[in-house]
Amino acid sequence: MEENRIIQEFEGKTILITGATGFLSKILVEKILRVQPNVKKLFLLIRASNVRSVESRLRQEIIDSELFRILREKWGQNIYSFLSSKVIPISGDVSYENLGIVNSELIDEIWRETDFIINSAATTRFDERYDIALDINVFGAMNVLNFAKKCSKLKLLLHVSTAFVHESRPELLLEKPFQMGGTLKGAKASYLDIEAEKKLVDETKTRLQAQNMTDKEFASTLRDLGIERANWHGWANTYSYTKAMGEMVLENFKDNIKVIVFRPTIITSTFREPFPGWIEGLRTLDSLFVAYAKGTLKFFLGDPGSILDVVPGDMVVNSILVAMAIHSQKPSHELIIYQVGSSLRNPIKCTEVKELMYKYLKKKPLIDNKGKLIKVGNPTLVSSITIFHRYIRLRYLPFLKMLKLSNLIFCNHFESLYENSRRKINRAVQLAELYKPYVFFQGIFDDANTENLRMAIRESNVNTEMFEFDPKSIQWEDYFINTHFPGIVKYVLK
Ligand SMILES: NC(=O)c1ccc[n+]([C@@H]2O[C@H](COP(=O)([O-])OP(=O)(O)OC[C@H]3O[C@@H](n4cnc5c(N)ncnc54)[C@H](OP(=O)(O)O)[C@@H]3O)[C@@H](O)[C@H]2O)c1
Repeated sequence: MEENRIIQEFEGKTILITGATGFLSKILVEKILRVQPNVKKLFLLIRASNVRSVESRLRQEIIDSELFRILREKWGQNIYSFLSSKVIPISGDVSYENLGIVNSELIDEIWRETDFIINSAATTRFDERYDIALDINVFGAMNVLNFAKKCSKLKLLLHVSTAFVHESRPELLLEKPFQMGGTLKGAKASYLDIEAEKKLVDETKTRLQAQNMTDKEFASTLRDLGIERANWHGWANTYSYTKAMGEMVLENFKDNIKVIVFRPTIITSTFREPFPGWIEGLRTLDSLFVAYAKGTLKFFLGDPGSILDVVPGDMVVNSILVAMAIHSQKPSHELIIYQVGSSLRNPIKCTEVKELMYKYLKKKPLIDNKGKLIKVGNPTLVSSITIFHRYIRLRYLPFLKMLKLSNLIFCNHFESLYENSRRKINRAVQLAELYKPYVFFQGIFDDANTENLRMAIRESNVNTEMFEFDPKSIQWEDYFINTHFPGIVKYVLK
């Protein structure tokens, strides 16, 4: 059958995947092994820790995860022998030269055998320490590129970035590469000098170390520096800023390596494969859902007009596999960007997501640790960050002050209520600040290149269901109510 054209591209091939323990990579690894058991090898780059070897991380976090259930059922007792011949965990770290791999024979083997590299490693914390974010998201991308240059039969390097490298503007945001040094429109600087940023970080660290700061103060100063430099150059947070720099180094230094860059929007639980609703960890939108479901958040942040661009994880993986198969055949070495999201072809507004959250939790409220149902009201929509701060100031701070006073008068009788309320308010403020670039985002992500991939598979009679990544096929109400929200409850809040 024609579907094999995509699958066949991976037969006998060796793929190196970084960030293999991450949410997206797991869906990718599972899909490859399920649809193409004749892939030659998957080298999975995993960070070892003091307490866990890469072998145990591979087993516990990847193979034994619920996501691999279908694959385990398919292979039964033979699953571990099947996987041990295919899946090779490699201890490494992208922040180092040669990806931190120390075994030189292994490095030679990877350089000799690898056909494709997928760089999915990243720090995804929006307010990461600036030094860490630079090391992983910028110089990590550079290290992966340098490593790719030594792979003698490499067909392509696929780098996973994010659609939020764009600034929030009410227009169609194109799949255009960044030029080295480019800044965004609202920037206070006209040029972004990556080497100078690295120097600034090194100097700041030396200065802070000389001041005998606590670890906490040291980390928080470097976190603030990241946000400050991001804003200075026009980005909303350290994450999107360093991801943009990562794209710049790839574009600038790729030489004759074929590089394609994927920019997914907000990745949500699987739509269909290997089964609907699988998700791991609390991500952008989901932290808001959980805070609201637990009664911590009584409002929903979002511009009534703004669109929340989300895309299920399996659709991102399908588009990645199709792009790899198609590009490995193409002679062109131009860097191509693929934006994978839904805002252009099947938009859903923030306000609609808010209504769906309410609808779901009214029917299926969470249960608190005393076994009581947590009742939620229809959340108030707070349509700007200024209104949000006013709302907190007027509605919650007087209550907190009153509790503090009562606590003083009644010998700490209200201490736990006070602490609990203070924590909830701080959490709400933190969430609002972190997610404001996403929930108030004004742009629509163009996906003309991604649409070309869809057209290519439609025209070649490939089984489009096996490689579904058309956001038009998502019926949002059904997806959120019957797949995504239950997925968070089942796999994240378990
Ligand atoms: N999730 C989303 O909504 C979303 C949206 C758009 C784009 N993306 C992009 O998609 C990619 C995957 O995201 P994700 O959600 O799967 O992220 P994730 O779950 O946070 O996984 C990140 C992975 O990168 C690894 N990693 C971090 N630093 C590393 C280093 N120095 N060396 C080697 N590995 C390192 C992590 O390893 P440890 O387990 O050791 O920490 C983890 O396996 C990222 O590039 C992200 O920017 C994600």
